[in-house]
Amino acid sequence: MYRIGLIGMGIIGQRYIDIVLKSGHQLAGVAGSSAHSSTVYADLYDTKPFQSWNELVNSPAIDIVINNTPNHLHFDVNMECLKLGKPIYAEKPLGRSTQETRAMVDSLKKKHVPNVVNYNRRGFPAVQQIKSMIESGELGDILLIRGNYLQDWLLFPQTWNWRVDPANGEVSRALADIGSHLIDMSLFVTGLTPRSVFYEKQTLIPMRKKPSGEWIKIENEDYGTLMMRFTNGAQGVFTFCQTSAGHIGSDMWVEISGTRKGLLWREREEDKIILKKYNDEDEVILVDPSLYNTHGQFEVFKSFIDWIDGGTSGAAATFTDGHFQVYLMELAMQSAETGTWQDVKFKG
Ligand SMILES: NC(=O)c1ccc[n+]([C@@H]2O[C@H](COP(=O)([O-])OP(=O)(O)OC[C@H]3O[C@@H](n4cnc5c(N)ncnc54)[C@H](O)[C@@H]3O)[C@@H](O)[C@H]2O)c1
Repeated sequence: MYRIGLIGMGIIGQRYIDIVLKSGHQLAGVAGSSAHSSTVYADLYDTKPFQSWNELVNSPAIDIVINNTPNHLHFDVNMECLKLGKPIYAEKPLGRSTQETRAMVDSLKKKHVPNVVNYNRRGFPAVQQIKSMIESGELGDILLIRGNYLQDWLLFPQTWNWRVDPANGEVSRALADIGSHLIDMSLFVTGLTPRSVFYEKQTLIPMRKKPSGEWIKIENEDYGTLMMRFTNGAQGVFTFCQTSAGHIGSDMWVEISGTRKGLLWREREEDKIILKKYNDEDEVILVDPSLYNTHGQFEVFKSFIDWIDGGTSGAAATFTDGHFQVYLMELAMQSAETGTWQDVKFKG
C-alpha cells in the first residue's frame, strides 16, 4: 500500500480524495494553501496536515504525490518531486511554458520517475472503445476531427478566479484550461500527428471585477478555435469557450470522420457512441459494459500505480504528452499573434 500525499484541496483536489480512498492506498497527508486549510481538510478526511506543499513532498512518510494546485505552482511542486525521485501525478497544464515543461522532461531523461499528467478523458470507457474502433480500421483513414469544449461558468464579468487573474500569468485560458483535454483526447484516439496549427482567439469579457471591487483588464482568452492540419492530410477544427450560456460544467463533444464511417461522442452521454454511416441512419452504440470494470475515472490513476509497480504508463498521459500540449499552446499563441499557420517542429 502506498502512502499518498495530496496537495491543493480545491475542486479537483477534493475529487481526488475519493479516487485515493477507493484505490485501496492510504491518504497519508494533505497540504493546502495555508497551515490552517491543511488542518481543516486533514480533520475532514482523517489524515495528517502538512504545513506546506514542500514539507509534504519532502516527508519520508509520503511515497507518492498528487499535485492539484493552481497552474503557477505546478512547476515548483513537480520539479521537487522529480528531484527527490517521488512518483508524481500532476494536474494539467503540466506547466505554463515550454521552458518549465522542458525542464521537467529533461530531468526525467536523467532520472526515471513515474510521471502522469491528468488528461483523464483517456481513461473513459467510451474513449478507450473509440480508440479500439479507430485502431481496428472501422472508420477507415481519418479525414476530419471536429470538437467542442464549452462551459458557461465565466459568462459574467463578476466571476473571478485565479485562471483569469493577469497576476498569475496564464498566457492561455480556453485552450490551456479546457481545449487541451479535447486535443489530447483527439490525438490519443486517432494516433494522428499535427503538422501545423492556426489559432483564432478572443477575450469576450474584457473586464472583470475582483472580489475587492476593482475592475481588471483580462488578458487571456475566453474563446478560441484551433485549426489543425495533420501529417496524413486530415484536418481538425476545435472550439473552446468558457462563456457559452447553457453549457453547464464541462460540455465536450467530438466527431471523427473517416473514409468508411464516422463517429460522434458527447461526454454528457458518456455511455453512447453515435456511429455515422454513409447515406444511412445513425447507429447508437452503447459502450461495452465490461469496460466499466476495467476503465473509467480511476483508469488513469490505476495506470499510474501500475507504472510505479513496474508496469507501463498504460492509459495515462505522461509528462512528455503534457509538454507537447504546452508546446502546441505556445504555437497556437504565436499563430494568433501573427495571423499565420505555424508548423509543428516538436523535438521533445
Ligand atoms: N483534469 C481535470 O479534469 C481538471 C479539472 C479541474 C481542474 N484541473 C486542474 O487542477 C488544478 C486546480 O484547479 P481547481 O479547479 O481545483 O482550482 P481550485 O482553485 O478550486 O483549487 C486549487 C487549490 O489549491 C490551493 N492552493 C493554492 N496555493 C497552494 C499552495 N501553495 N499549496 C497548496 N495548495 C494551494 C487553493 O487554496 C485551492 O484550494 C489546475 O491546474 C487545473 O487546471 C484539472
